[in-house]
Amino acid sequence: MGDLEDLAARIRGCTLCRLHEGRTHAVPGEGPPNARIFLLGEAPGRHEDDAGRPFVGAAGRILDAVLGKAGLTRKDVFITNVVKCRPPENRRPRADEIEACHPYLLAQVHAVRPRVLVALGDTAVTALLGPDADLASARRGHPRFERIPVVATYHPAAVLYNRTLSEALQADLAKAARIARVPRRRSGKPRPGKPTKTALSAGCAVIDAEGRVLLIRRADERLWGLPKGTVEPGETLEETAVREVREETGLQVRVLRPLLEVRYRFYSPRDDANVDKRVVYFLAERVGGRLKLEPGFDEARWFPRSEALRRLHFENDRNVVRRAFEALAGVTGRTPARGRGARR
Ligand code: URA
Repeated sequence: MGDLEDLAARIRGCTLCRLHEGRTHAVPGEGPPNARIFLLGEAPGRHEDDAGRPFVGAAGRILDAVLGKAGLTRKDVFITNVVKCRPPENRRPRADEIEACHPYLLAQVHAVRPRVLVALGDTAVTALLGPDADLASARRGHPRFERIPVVATYHPAAVLYNRTLSEALQADLAKAARIARVPRRRSGKPRPGKPTKTALSAGCAVIDAEGRVLLIRRADERLWGLPKGTVEPGETLEETAVREVREETGLQVRVLRPLLEVRYRFYSPRDDANVDKRVVYFLAERVGGRLKLEPGFDEARWFPRSEALRRLHFENDRNVVRRAFEALAGVTGRTPARGRGARR
């Protein structure tokens, strides 16, 4: 730890390039000193400059969400930037600024000795792989920096402008987790004495034209469930539910009505806290799209009511499906389909 703390102190007092003139705080970076994964961004922005910490603004929220979906948390990664001080007006760092800061980056890599480096965006790609490297080719290849594998991927800020990149970023972070062999930590029963966090998610029981419900299976635990996910800032519950179905399954859906609110508690090793979770479910119908699963899921199928109830792992999910079929009868007068689940 000593090494990293000494480096951080030197970075905070650094005057090697013009960027120190406009900074509020230098942002050395943070994370476990023995992290297996080392994430490299471009440069601090306004929020990072205010806080002295990396990725705490909008791009940081995207990063946290995508890390979570890749089965990682900030506790699994060391995060820093190519330059440690905010460039004016968030312009790209210049070559001489990158060069002045490079010894700090090198010393951080040597101190952490990660199993994998993740270059977030072009600036990080060229800082690690040289001026001729480009993100697209680096993403396709198997580059290394000082013999450490480099996973080149999109910058989380790019996802703010193009949501479809989120899937690629998530897949790349999951790849980094596999390379680094980050142990998968499972959630479990609430643990006495741990702090409690609250979490809010929204999801859908999606029904197709034949009156079957869509279930998806998590690849790691091989458990069937309903599409759902975390409510992002500024979203309504319905917007979250529709977005999560689209991201997890590729389908476009229309919400017909609210169904049920489910509440449960569990211990989350990622947060080292008990989580008091609320999930609000909606009844929705498919209006378009083709089934295309997000990484992390290995199967999606339409099931009639009885088969869905047999497959679902959690009683909460079974209650949602029961309620969905009751509501469906009310909305459309349809009766549940009979027969076996069918793939589309
Ligand atoms: N963008 C970056 O590249 N780094 C940060 O720390 C925040 C936003």
